[in-house]
Amino acid sequence: MHDQASLTSFSANEVALSIEFNSGFTSRFHWLWLRENCVCNKCHHPQTWERTVDTFLLDRDIRAKQIEISSSGEMLNLVWPDGHITAYMASWLLQHAYDNHDVNDGLPDAVVWTKESLPEKPSIDAAEVMETEAGVSTLIYQLKEVGFSIVKNLPPEIGMVEKLAQRVGYLRDTHFGIDFTVESKPQPNNVAYTSIELKAHTDLPNLETPPGIQFLHCLLADATGGESLLVDGFAAVQLLCQENPSAYEDLLRIPVNFRFVDKEWDLRWNSPTIRLDQKGRLEEIRYHNALTATRETGFDDMTKLYDGLRAFTQILRRKELELKFKLEPGDVMVFHNRRVLHGRAEFDPNSGSRKLRGCYVDCDQAWSKLRVSQAMNKL
Ligand SMILES: [Fe+2]
Repeated sequence: MHDQASLTSFSANEVALSIEFNSGFTSRFHWLWLRENCVCNKCHHPQTWERTVDTFLLDRDIRAKQIEISSSGEMLNLVWPDGHITAYMASWLLQHAYDNHDVNDGLPDAVVWTKESLPEKPSIDAAEVMETEAGVSTLIYQLKEVGFSIVKNLPPEIGMVEKLAQRVGYLRDTHFGIDFTVESKPQPNNVAYTSIELKAHTDLPNLETPPGIQFLHCLLADATGGESLLVDGFAAVQLLCQENPSAYEDLLRIPVNFRFVDKEWDLRWNSPTIRLDQKGRLEEIRYHNALTATRETGFDDMTKLYDGLRAFTQILRRKELELKFKLEPGDVMVFHNRRVLHGRAEFDPNSGSRKLRGCYVDCDQAWSKLRVSQAMNKL
């Protein structure tokens, strides 16, 4: 759509230039913004494309002395008081129009789901991801849009999930190590390393930035029980917002104290349960009752916090939100850890083995890969 954009008219005042596009959409652009973002090689480094113009040496009240739309309508040409020339493509201006619509970040929007609304689990074959860039992009697209994917047929051997994850980004080290094995262990430092049920949760909310994407590769699954669970936290927040707006507001505002402690570590971070981005879209959920430290919320908020979390928990545990399935050896459950909550049913360690190998990567590298591949496809 952006590629066909052209300009039809403009009007200027002291503050901004208002531009009408061929779609009828109109957006205002501040003069200083138009000067700062000049796309010429003098205003940006020609190789690194970092900004070289010194924004704060520009006149704060700058205004172009000549404004012209090219005959094709595809370019906006501006001449500044010192003679500097800026030429913007209409499609670039439309892409960056910040006046009254969302600036496109080059990524698909989240599509929320429940067990009922999801026609089938997004999935992809491991060989496609390991061997093709298109496969990597498909996986990341699923992670951004739906929040998870099942990668099938990755040989169930130690070391394979790390290779798969490295197709998406750098492995993220944590206090559990750069990779970890989830199985019933004799001296567990985490409930994941037992055989008990794990209710839906997000991992590592006790860190400043919890890992973005988690990979869990099923190596062995012959124990009775141990079904995996996924819940779309964004869908649960939408329901909370509709059904109990005051609980929603409280969970946006009141911080929860999260903490992981063992002999080596005392890792703590305080954050509200729900976070929005600057445009008011859902960005992050932190929810893990087992990692909640002794609560230190002020007296006036304590009951509100308990009530808000109770309401949210009741929604998260609704059957219609819970997607349950058994992973087979070779399956990799990949999910957006700050959106989709995960858990598992209890299993019987005496009936057989249940062994998963896991690791994390961060979202920014994954989203970057998707943007770069989309840009390559446009060339
Ligand atoms: Fe977990």
